[in-house]
Amino acid sequence: MLELKNVNAGYGELQVLYNISLKVEEGEFISLVGPNGAGKTTTLRTISGIIKPISGEIDFLDNKIETFTPQQITRQGVSFVTEDGCLFPGMSIKDNLEMGAYIIKDKEKKQENLEYVFNLFPRLAERKKQLAGTLSGGERKMLSIARGLMSNPQVLLVDEPSLGLAPQLVSKVFETLKRLNDEGVTILLVEQNVNTALKLTDRTYVLEQGEIALSGSSRDLLQDDHVKNSYLGIRERE
Ligand SMILES: Nc1ncnc2c1ncn2[C@@H]1O[C@H](COP(=O)(O)OP(=O)(O)OP(=O)(O)O)[C@@H](O)[C@H]1O
Ligand SMILES: [Mg+2]
Repeated sequence: MLELKNVNAGYGELQVLYNISLKVEEGEFISLVGPNGAGKTTTLRTISGIIKPISGEIDFLDNKIETFTPQQITRQGVSFVTEDGCLFPGMSIKDNLEMGAYIIKDKEKKQENLEYVFNLFPRLAERKKQLAGTLSGGERKMLSIARGLMSNPQVLLVDEPSLGLAPQLVSKVFETLKRLNDEGVTILLVEQNVNTALKLTDRTYVLEQGEIALSGSSRDLLQDDHVKNSYLGIRERE
C-alpha cells in the first residue's frame, strides 16, 4: 500500500535519512522506533510531503507521491497526526474536527465522520464547544487523533501519541489505535516506548542514525538481543 524505496532526505544541507526502504501493507499496524534524533519524525514528514526527498521513491497505492504536495497526499488518503497535533487553539473541538475533514465535500459524510470520532472519544463529544487551547494534554492527543481520522484516511501516520501522557491515558490511546486497526485503518506508529510498540504492532522497523538498522515481526524483535540490549533494558547474562 505504502512503500519507501531508498529514500534519502533531510533539511537543507543536513541529510537525516539514508536509503530508507520500508513497506506498509493494507491493514497492517507497523511501528517505527529508534533513539531520539534517529529520523523517525523526519520519515513521517517525508511520507506526508512536508519535506521532499533528495532521492528515492515513495509509492502509495498506484501513485508515486514523492513529488506531491502535502494536500495532494492527504487527498490520496494519508493522514499525519503530528506530535503536537497542530491544533487551532482558538477554535472549538468541533471546528478543529471539521478542519480535519476539509478535503471532504459531502456534508453527510462529514457528519458521519464527526459522529464516528465522537463515538470513539466520548470525552470530546461532551466538550465539543470547548476551545482546543484549553484542553488537557490527554484531550489534545485525542483531538489530534480524531482530527486525523476526519479525512477518512487509508493510512494513519501517528507520531508519539503517548508522549507526556499519564500511564492510564497511554493505554487508552493505544487501545484506541488497536481498535482503529481492527476496524481496518492501516497505521504507521512512531513510538518511544519500544516495549509497548512491539507488543501492539504486527511489524517493526528500527531506525538508527537515519538508517533502518533492523526490521521484522514485532514478536521476533521482542526476542532480538540488539533490541533487548538497546531498547528494552533487559540485559541477558552471558
Ligand atoms: N526542521 C529541521 N531543521 C533542521 N534539522 C532538523 C529539523 N527537524 C529535525 N532536524 C534534525 O534531524 C534529525 C532527526 O530528527 P527527527 O525529529 O526526525 O528525530 P526523531 O527520531 O523523531 O527524534 P525524537 O525521538 O527526539 O522525536 C535530528 O538531528 C534533528 O536535529
Ligand atoms: Mg520525533
